[in-house]
Amino acid sequence: MKKVAVLVSGGGTNLQAILDAEVIGTIKSAKVDIVISDNEGAFALERAKASEVDAICISKKLPDFEDKLISALDERAVDLIVLAGFLSILSPKFTKHFEGRIINIHPSLIPSFCGKGYYGLKVHEAALARGVKLTGATVHYVNEIPDGGKIIAQRAVAVLPDDTPESLQLRVMKEAEHIILPRAIESICSGE
Ligand code: GRF
Repeated sequence: MKKVAVLVSGGGTNLQAILDAEVIGTIKSAKVDIVISDNEGAFALERAKASEVDAICISKKLPDFEDKLISALDERAVDLIVLAGFLSILSPKFTKHFEGRIINIHPSLIPSFCGKGYYGLKVHEAALARGVKLTGATVHYVNEIPDGGKIIAQRAVAVLPDDTPESLQLRVMKEAEHIILPRAIESICSGE
């Protein structure tokens, strides 16, 4: 059974999808060992507690934030680190230290609408502004280039004429992110 750390910053709907996937058996080769938030107010921490998963906050405001994060992860000896709505940019020191063991979920079909400054609603605002008919989500390995690592999985979602950034974000989460992230975790942890 592989040990997974999930890094969060906000609502935690992707974390919830992972926890639910463990219960229904979509994920059977891995277990969330710890949830770490860089933001003490993240509702994702409540979701972890409700599922009796260890959850801690390492505030991004701390001067030695990344060093604390690295040692917390080393201490737990996790096999896979999942960035799920995690907003802090991780340095090359961090990505090298955990090379090949960090994945991220991004709410667009990379290489569209990704990289510096593209996160959360901004991604969907850009997709609507460009007038794309299809968007979606991508799971990819994390390296030193923001959203630049090897693509693992993608799933497309139609953009509807009356979509707002909020309605599009919700549909991309439900119909793409929450489906491909648990599947990617299982496929990596089962050695598929
Ligand atoms: C959302 O914008 C989602 O698309 C992206 O991170 C944000 C929050 O996700 N992956 P979550 O609800 O905290 O998992």
